[in-house]
Amino acid sequence: MREEIKNLKEELIQKLNNINSLKELNDLKVEYFGKKGPITEISSKMRDLSIEEKKEIGMLLTDLRNETTNLFDSLKEKLETDALNKKLESERIDISLPSTKIKRGSKHPMSLTIEAIEDLFVSMGYDVVSGPELESDEYCFERLNLPKGHPARDMQDSFYITDEYLLRTQTSSVQARYMMSQEEKKPIRIIVPGKTYRREDDATHAPQFSQIEGLVIDKKENNVSLADLKGTLEVFARKMLGENLDLRFRPSYFPFTEPSYEVDVTCFKCGGKGCSLCKQTGWIEVFAAGMVHPNVLRMNGYDPDVWGGFAFGPGWDRITMFRYEIPDIRLMYQNDIRFLSEFDRKDEN
Ligand code: DAH
Repeated sequence: MREEIKNLKEELIQKLNNINSLKELNDLKVEYFGKKGPITEISSKMRDLSIEEKKEIGMLLTDLRNETTNLFDSLKEKLETDALNKKLESERIDISLPSTKIKRGSKHPMSLTIEAIEDLFVSMGYDVVSGPELESDEYCFERLNLPKGHPARDMQDSFYITDEYLLRTQTSSVQARYMMSQEEKKPIRIIVPGKTYRREDDATHAPQFSQIEGLVIDKKENNVSLADLKGTLEVFARKMLGENLDLRFRPSYFPFTEPSYEVDVTCFKCGGKGCSLCKQTGWIEVFAAGMVHPNVLRMNGYDPDVWGGFAFGPGWDRITMFRYEIPDIRLMYQNDIRFLSEFDRKDEN
């Protein structure tokens, strides 16, 4: 029996050395240690042995079990690790491969336009300011020299929320707000890009549109004049619409400026020769502007004997439309991906 156990052990160890898979290992375990296996068989024969022999054979069997169990366990661990490594290797992801392209959005043409305008004005020392879209009658009209019942209010058919509050019809409201917000009256140089609202809707007018108000106030002794307004608008137009443009000032009327102008620029499509865009006139209206009315200064805390300046208010949508030759204002508010993707920065893709 001793001999039998010894042989069994050698045989088993040899077989273990040739095992290549977890399945083979498992089968081997069943073969030797299972109910019908040789080890069980030897154990069952021990019944007939003397106590001494039982002891000795018992120890040999325990020894065989311990030793081979260790071998089984370590081999099992090794085979499992090998299997896992093989799996990892076969499922490896090559991260050096180029990824699939993600479709990115692009900036809206209105954003591209205002970024350029803000850069220009900030470089000239202006601040960029905003104000509320839900505005009081007081700031939208009264403090701009348009008292209740003033006929010029009719040009701006409005969305009133209550008798006193409306969706602002013009960013000029922020002229008054900004002047009033200055505790210590200081010189002002601001632009105010923002949304505005009026009750109109056709190919060139939307009920919600956008303006960029400009306001410059300084001490009278610094002589902010019409020439400064003209120079400012010239830089503005040339930077945004084309370097060779000329400006034409036409007298106009706005209650908050005196004198007031509508300012045309050379038609950037035909260069002034006359075409469908400029209705054969060679000019396109871009700005409304003027010298700030003394009443507006006074009503908003700036003494008109001490202070003076100019204001201007182009349509932000209009400038964007001109800049990118967009034929219908509504395109800019429809969120149509085919239109918007025209403004993709190709160089960034
Ligand atoms: N707020 C005027 C409008 O919407 C435009 C305007 C005219 C703005 C003259 C100005 C200005 O700042 O000086 O019709």
